[in-house]
Amino acid sequence: MPDLSVQVNGLKLPNPFVIASGPPGTNANVISKAFDEGWGGVVCKTVCLEADKIINVAPRYARMRAQNSKEVIGWENIELISDRSIEVWEDEFKRLKDAYPDRVLIASVMEEYGKDRWSEIIERCAACGVDGFELNFSCPHGLPERAMGAAMGQNPELLREVCAWVREATDLPFWAKMTPNITHITEPARASLESGADGIAAINTILSVMGVNLDTLRPEPTVEGYSLPGGYSGKAVRPIALRMVMELATMMFGESEAFLDRSISAIGGVESGEDAAQFILLGASTVQVCTGVMIHGYGHVKPMCDQLESFMDKHGFESIEEFRGHALKYFSTHAELVERQRDAREKKKQEREIGKDTQWEGDRFVEQSDMLVSNK
Ligand SMILES: Cc1cc2nc3c(=O)[nH]c(=O)nc-3n(C[C@H](O)[C@H](O)[C@H](O)COP(=O)(O)O)c2cc1C
Repeated sequence: MPDLSVQVNGLKLPNPFVIASGPPGTNANVISKAFDEGWGGVVCKTVCLEADKIINVAPRYARMRAQNSKEVIGWENIELISDRSIEVWEDEFKRLKDAYPDRVLIASVMEEYGKDRWSEIIERCAACGVDGFELNFSCPHGLPERAMGAAMGQNPELLREVCAWVREATDLPFWAKMTPNITHITEPARASLESGADGIAAINTILSVMGVNLDTLRPEPTVEGYSLPGGYSGKAVRPIALRMVMELATMMFGESEAFLDRSISAIGGVESGEDAAQFILLGASTVQVCTGVMIHGYGHVKPMCDQLESFMDKHGFESIEEFRGHALKYFSTHAELVERQRDAREKKKQEREIGKDTQWEGDRFVEQSDMLVSNK
């Protein structure tokens, strides 16, 4: 039977499925539920030192549904980080670690720019026994006026500084969580790793406007008739997350030896074991799930583990490490694809194959289209 357990940055997880920071890790009750249901680890909802400044609105979500099946395929939120005080969190971290000493509990933290603030929040959480940290450099919609979240994460030089403060404050592993709302995600990631981050978590949500209500003419999600761009998550963002994880893994594991001991925790639209397998094939050690839990519930980890196991069985993989990063070597440039195709065509000289647009035939159009599909 394949072994789903993962060892990463000194953390031991029974399986690679981790609750992502958000509503599914928002207090001790739900975190306990996640551990009871068998999640490999939990990243709590992001904690800060001054929770009284965090004021949420309702409603704060809007969903994208498939046209026919009505399945939820995308999710926008304008939710802020945790509005629960650091004192409450300290108490809950301690209680959770007493109750689940062997389970991985990661504190997600976010603060304003300032060494004292970052050192304080890291030291206070570490004193409660958490196993590691995720630095939220990526919350897209709230608190830009305080230069927190993505406002900080879009500036590699700030990350270089903040990660160095965190490294100084703790020996526990920490992951820097990246925003996808940037042209080159590798730049802030590289700065974080160079300052001692043990890993990169990616991606946070993608800035979005879910839609405009054609009756009221107001944007969604609407609060008292007004809105702002929010963070998009769920199935619909998965291809973008896969691309960004691929870029991160190429930078971290392909271009030099400097980051071979670091890790990637992949996030974005994971809802099945097959989704997880794809991120692992692109270099991730763990995969995080937020929206999937909001749609399917905590028990969903069981079918996801079964699906991942079936995938591993099918290919004869005994461990996660055995196939981690396997697909990275199949990325190339467009110019090289053209060259490969030219060589292959010359070899085959298949009469029926479509090499030039003049070969399309009206009577065989569907068959010819089908011949060009790679994932039949
Ligand atoms: C309602 C909601 C609240 C979230 N809150 C946080 C948060 O407090 N901190 C954080 O780092 N990410 C937060 N996220 C982002 C998720 O952790 C995750 O990066 C993103 O949703 C993509 O993963 P998914 O498609 O599995 O949801 C939130 C996401 C949602 C949907």
